[in-house]
Parts: sequence; structure tokens; C-alpha cells
Amino acid sequence: MKTVRVGLGEKSYDILIGYALGEIGRMLKKYTKGIKSLIVTNPTIAEYYLEKAKKSLQEAGFQVFVAQVPDGEEYKSQAEASRLYAKCVEYRLERESIIVGLGGGVIGDLAGYVAATFMRGLPIVQVPTTLLAQVDSSVGGKVAVNLPEGKNLVGAFYQPFLVYIDLAVLKTLPVDEMEVGMAEVIKYGVILDKKFFEYLEKKIGELRELDMEVLERVVARCCQLKAGVVEEDEREKGLRSILNFGHTLGHALEALTDYKKYKHGEAVAIGMVGACRIAEKMGMLKKEVRDRIERLIEKAGLPGRIGAELSVDSIVQVLSLDKKVRAGKVRFVLPERIGRVVVRDDVPEDIVRDVITGLME
Ligand SMILES: NC(=O)c1ccc[n+]([C@@H]2O[C@H](COP(=O)([O-])OP(=O)(O)OC[C@H]3O[C@@H](n4cnc5c(N)ncnc54)[C@H](O)[C@@H]3O)[C@@H](O)[C@H]2O)c1
Ligand SMILES: [Zn+2]
Repeated sequence: MKTVRVGLGEKSYDILIGYALGEIGRMLKKYTKGIKSLIVTNPTIAEYYLEKAKKSLQEAGFQVFVAQVPDGEEYKSQAEASRLYAKCVEYRLERESIIVGLGGGVIGDLAGYVAATFMRGLPIVQVPTTLLAQVDSSVGGKVAVNLPEGKNLVGAFYQPFLVYIDLAVLKTLPVDEMEVGMAEVIKYGVILDKKFFEYLEKKIGELRELDMEVLERVVARCCQLKAGVVEEDEREKGLRSILNFGHTLGHALEALTDYKKYKHGEAVAIGMVGACRIAEKMGMLKKEVRDRIERLIEKAGLPGRIGAELSVDSIVQVLSLDKKVRAGKVRFVLPERIGRVVVRDDVPEDIVRDVITGLME
């Protein structure tokens, strides 16, 4: 297995990347003295992977409990967290018991939130099963639930003690969910790593087709890049905000359409195109580089245009409500070249308007 270390002092942990969900129990034994474990998952994932994970844990000597949450972002809620706390009490979990988050970002965030808060913190191992979760949400310790008023409004920074990735689980992931993850993969190339971006230009087709060699390299590189950022700035006081490239406009589009029209990765893809165009208009990014980024997004099967049913005004208005607004200013992460971005809060509104108008054509 490949190992990527996230170095955070006594909160440091490994990300193990391989093909061995069936070995998770044996591996976990090396990382914990706990005996009781609670697998948090949903029925979609359970159908494919629960038995394998459960059996492996049992064979390694863990006592295994299971809690299933219905499938969907709307269940990343305080109500579901409360149901999970009740399970933790019912199964008499104690300080050394472990929580196993087996699923995509929704399960990971929810299970992580429960782990962070139940008895002031139980150890959690993240077992991400979507590409997005493997390259992004399982690494870095952000855990949260949504409120009716907005996404991820209640949460914590709470690092897992291990991230255990089986790449083979992506074989059952629907293609559009693969694309969601690919938007984040492209994001890492643009913000941090030109060589990786060039690799993606060559291999994006293979990635879509789940070529395991490519997948392994991509997931490992993304984990390394994210780990590097988190090590520098765990609590998003500065550097970590570059991970929001494409997300300023992306979040606005998602919020404006009630999270129904766009998948997260689609909104981020459009947001990345928007950010590149803003950067170009600000005189920071060359047109040919912008074209190159747009081409890769398109090759990944991701959109680069906003549906005409939204108005420019409504988008601009929602942008200014984005929670990344600081002192009334909207912050954009803008590329200067491939592999380097800056955070700017001084983009003139006419440029934003122009770019959004252009994205609707
Ligand atoms: N904590 C962070 O740093 C962070 C970062 C990015 C996103 N997020 C959060 O992640 C969530 C989105 O995560 P997601 O994109 O993984 O979505 P998701 O968890 O909803 O999973 C997408 C769909 O795929 C299904 N699925 C998962 N794994 C599967 C598999 N191997 N085979 C078949 N189906 C499978 C799920 O049941 C679900 O229907 C959002 O709530 C977002 O806020 C968190
Ligand atoms: Zn994202």
C-alpha cells in the first residue's frame, strides 16, 4: 500500500492507499487498542461494501456495530447526528472505541462530526468511497453537518487517526460522481502542481475509465498536495483557502439552485472557468493558459457554462452573501499560472459581472 503522511504533531496520521478493504481489520489493529467499533454508512454503500468491512473487522477481533444513515446530503444533519449519538450510547461506546466512516463525503463529514463531539471525541478512521472523498473530504479533518440556513454551518476541525483508501470501490461509483471528484483533482493541479496538471492533460481519459494505475497515482498525489496545505494551515487562517479555487462562484451557483441543478463538481468546474476568466481580465493570467485549463475541464466531461435560466444579478447577489465574504468583500482564488494562485478580495464588480455574462453565452 502507498502511504501518505499528514504531519500535524501529535495529531499526525497516515493515509493508506491500496485495494484492500478486506484487510482493514488487520491494519487497524496496528493503529488502535480499541475493541468496539461503529461503522457509519448508508444503504447504497452498505450493499456493496459493508459485509466485507464488517467481516474484516470481526476477524481482527473487533466488536462491530453498524449504523446506517439514509443516502443523501439532506441527512448530513443534526437530526441524524442525534440518532447516531443514541446508537453510541446504546452500544456503550467508550473513549477508545472507534468510529469507521464508510462512505462518501456526506458520511465522512457526519461520522466525523459525531466522532468529534460524542464524549468530547472518539477516534475515527475515514474509509472514503467516492473519488471526491478520497482526494478531498476525508483528508484534513473538516467535519460538519448542515443547518436549514446553510451548508456546513456546524462543525469542527477534527483529524482522523487514519484514512484507509481502497481504490477498487470506485468501480461501483456512478460516472457523474466520478466527475465530481475530477473537478477537485483538476483544482489541485491548477493551484499547486504544474507537472501534475500536465499529467492530467495526458491521462484524464484513463482516469475517467478507472485505469487503476492512473487512479492510484492521482489519488496519492492529491492526498499529498492536500496534506501539504493542511500541514501549513490546519484551521484555514491563510493558505488553506486556496483549496477554494472555483468554489466562490461554485457555491453561489449551488445555493442559488437549491443544490438541485448542479452536482458540486459541476458547479466547481464552472467556478474554476469563471476564476480563470476573472484572472485573465485582471491581467494576471495569459489567455493561452486559461484556454488550457478550460480544455482540461471540458475533457473531464465537466461543464464550463452556466444555464441561461439564472440571471447575472441573482448570481452577483448570492456571491456577496457567500460565507467567505470578509468585511463585505468577495474573495476569489485566482491563478497567475498553472501551479500558482493568489487570493484576492479586490475584484471589481464589473469584471465579475462581465465574466458571469460571458459564461452564460
Ligand atoms: N470535509 C471536507 O473537507 C469536505 C470537502 C469537500 C466536500 N465535503 C462534503 O462532502 C459531501 C459530498 O461528498 P460526495 O461527493 O462524496 O457525495 P456523497 O457522499 O453524497 O456520495 C455520492 C453518492 O455516491 C454514493 N456512493 C458513495 N460511494 C459509492 C461507491 N463506492 N459505489 C457506489 N455508490 C457510492 C453515495 O451513496 C451517494 O449517493 C458534501 O456534503 C460536502 O460538503 C467535505
Ligand atoms: Zn469542493
